[in-house]
Amino acid sequence: MLARAREFLTRKATDAPRLEAELLVAHSLGLDRLQLFLQLDRPITAVELAKARELLLRRGKHEPVAYITGRREFYGRSFAVGRGVLVPRPETELIVDLARSLHAQSPRASVLDIGAGSGCLAITLALELSAPRVVAVDISPAALTVARSNAAALAAQVEFLLGDGPEALGAAEPFELLVSNPPYIDPSEAASLAPDVRDWEPSEALFTPAGDPDHWLVRLNRAAAERLSADGVALIELGHQQAPRALELALAAGLRARTHRDYGGVERVLELRRA
Ligand SMILES: C[S@@+](CC[C@H](N)C(=O)[O-])C[C@H]1O[C@@H](n2cnc3c(N)ncnc32)[C@H](O)[C@@H]1O
Repeated sequence: MLARAREFLTRKATDAPRLEAELLVAHSLGLDRLQLFLQLDRPITAVELAKARELLLRRGKHEPVAYITGRREFYGRSFAVGRGVLVPRPETELIVDLARSLHAQSPRASVLDIGAGSGCLAITLALELSAPRVVAVDISPAALTVARSNAAALAAQVEFLLGDGPEALGAAEPFELLVSNPPYIDPSEAASLAPDVRDWEPSEALFTPAGDPDHWLVRLNRAAAERLSADGVALIELGHQQAPRALELALAAGLRARTHRDYGGVERVLELRRA
C-alpha cells in the first residue's frame, strides 16, 4: 500500500512523495507516522483503503498536505488550517526566535500582529512571551475564524480584529512588539509559483497589489513609526531579495533597520526601531 502510494505521488511530481505517502496513509488510518510503522503488517479494511485513495488523489491534484490533514505544526504546536488560510511556514518561526530573545532582554507586554492567518504568530507569541496584550488583525473572515479556534484550542489570549492592515486599530495605542508576515509576492510572479501554493493558498495571503511591490513595506514602516512604543521593535518577514529595498525604504521613513538571516541564509526578517 505504502509503495503504491509513493509511486502514485512520484508520478504526480509532488514535493516529497515518500514522506507525503506515509503522512496521508497514516492519516487515513487515524494513526501518526510512528504508529504506522509499528503497525505495518496490520490488515487494511476496504473502507480505510478507499479513504487513503481519496486523500492520495487530492494530493495528486497538488492540494497541500496540510489542507488534507487539516493541521500543520508551528513552533512545536499543532495548528488547524484549511482553505482560506496560509499554511504556516518554518521560516516564519525566525520571528518567534527573535521576539523571544528581545523579550529576554526587555519584556514585551503588548504585541500587534498584522495579517494573522491561522494565528500562528500571534498565538505562539502570546504563549511564549506570556504577553498580557496581543492583538492580531486580518482582512479575511475565513482566516479569523480559524485563528480564533486555534487560540481557543491552545488556550492563548489573543484579540482578533477583522480589518484592513494596521489602520484597523483606531486610536494610536503604542505596542512594544509589532510582527507581520505580509503578502510579498508580486502578482506577475504567480506563474513561477508551485501549483500547491498558486492554485490552493488564498491569493490575499500571497500577493501584493499589482504594480505596487512596496505596498506592505510602506504601510508597515508607517505603522512602526506611529504605533511602536519608544523602545518598541517591529519584526517583518521579507521575501527573497526584498531586503535591500526594505532597508532603503525603512531608512527613508526615518527608522533604524537591520535584517536577520533565516537558517537557509536568506535575509528573511526586517527589524525596525524608531530613530
Ligand atoms: C502571508 S499571510 C501570513 C499569515 C500568518 N501570519 C502566517 O505567518 O502564516 C498574510 C496574511 O495577511 C492577510 N492580509 C492580506 N491583506 C490584508 C490587509 N489589507 N489587512 C489585514 N490583513 C491582510 C491575509 O489574509 C493573510 O492571512
